Amino acid sequence: VNFSEPYRPQFHYSPKINWMNDPNGLVYNDGVYHLFHQYNPFGNRWGYMSWGHATSTDLVHWDHKAVAIPYGKEEEEGIFSGSAVVDHQNTSGFGDGGDPPIVAIYTSHYTREDGSTDQAQSLAYSIDGGQTFTKFEGNPVLEFDDPDFRDPNVSWNEEMGRWLMVVALPTQHKVQFYASDNLKDWEYLSDFGPAGATGGIWECPDFFRLPVDDNPENQKWVLHVDMNPGSVAGGSGSQYFVGEWDGTSFIPDETFMETAPHWTDYGTDFYAAISWNNIPEEDARQLWVGWMNNWDYANEIPTHPWRSAMSIPRSIHLESNNESYSLVQKPVESLRQLREDPVRLENLDLSDETIDLSQEGISGKAFEMIVEIEPGDAESVGINVREAENQRTVIGYNSVNQNVFADRTNSGESDFFEGFEQRNDVPVHLSDGTVKIRFFVDWSSVEVFVNDGSRVITNRIFPDPESIGVSAFADGGSATITNIEFWPLESIWT
Ligand code: FRU
Repeated sequence: VNFSEPYRPQFHYSPKINWMNDPNGLVYNDGVYHLFHQYNPFGNRWGYMSWGHATSTDLVHWDHKAVAIPYGKEEEEGIFSGSAVVDHQNTSGFGDGGDPPIVAIYTSHYTREDGSTDQAQSLAYSIDGGQTFTKFEGNPVLEFDDPDFRDPNVSWNEEMGRWLMVVALPTQHKVQFYASDNLKDWEYLSDFGPAGATGGIWECPDFFRLPVDDNPENQKWVLHVDMNPGSVAGGSGSQYFVGEWDGTSFIPDETFMETAPHWTDYGTDFYAAISWNNIPEEDARQLWVGWMNNWDYANEIPTHPWRSAMSIPRSIHLESNNESYSLVQKPVESLRQLREDPVRLENLDLSDETIDLSQEGISGKAFEMIVEIEPGDAESVGINVREAENQRTVIGYNSVNQNVFADRTNSGESDFFEGFEQRNDVPVHLSDGTVKIRFFVDWSSVEVFVNDGSRVITNRIFPDPESIGVSAFADGGSATITNIEFWPLESIWT
């Protein structure tokens, strides 16, 4: 494919046509990363939920595949979000003696004749390596007395020697844990919640173990859960809790129950992230991707004939700090293959001025940039991207509020949603008087990784195609950008 419509992401996954939302069934199998996702095969707005499908061998280049699990027309069954596992021991019995089956565990969203809806968990399996799926005739496999009961996330739990599911009770602000020996019969274990932020419904939980500070001897459990609306940047977003798993229940560390919510991303457009199952142990990475959109305006963003994109895939880590933990996200290393010839600048002194970087060869619509900033006595210092005379997206550090920010107030098209013009701030401590910001700019997005990923801001923007300027600025004093590295990024679609 050669994707060149206005706003078409050049190094992010998007479907050729039609509507997409949450990533689903992320699973690695036999050298292939599968990315299933919520998809409407019939239109460019949410509806007729099915699982779309794409595959990659490097998490960078994607092949579009046929719809994997279609909307059930007869029984009006929407195929809502869920996960997929490789059933190595054929515990489900779906295998045929050849390669292990891939089993998808998803939510059936039924619309009844009287118009009411309810939800239960169902299975579909593939015995051809994830190309085609068959719905299990015994569906659904798990029901609960609440019409909102969805987004099952299943993984193999080594200690229990069983499958472990975490699933949301959205309007109760709870998740539930279940265990199974065969993916078909599920035993209730426990509830978690309400806790943390409860300003909106809870969706798309994920539950995984991470080494603390990359030390395999010290592991903690992370419960990740999405919330809509009421998240840190407005609308949909996500939070996490860190704690222990005792075989039955998740026990959060006290700091996660006592302090303000722990947000995964401080921007508007990172939702429903789940991690890849079955990553080989020797690889030892925990990887995920999120839906780069916000339910506040997802159905209105000005793109056609498709809507929505995924974030860049990220590895996730846990860092200890002051008796607590924070989730760290880093762009996957394989993205480096897209880097074209770099431009490097050192010690750019800025005194209440803006310097056009185009003359240095820094400009464009799809690029990666790393800047190290010494804010000095400036009130605010940073980089303008996707810039034209009356348009820019601003990424920088504000000394007055001690924030890193991404400002899309004047970033381009915004009239599809009142409130789109906003600025997102994230508190950041300088270390040795400097802050390091790495960001990825695409035709309709910016992803900002602060201090090696300890804070992230992900935002959609819709600038004019002609807005390709990049400049550096300092306001209200003098600052130095000690290092600038810039790489144009190659398109993944050519
Ligand atoms: C989250 C969500 C899920 C649901 C899916 C439906 O974005 O609302 O809870 O399964 O989207 O498309």
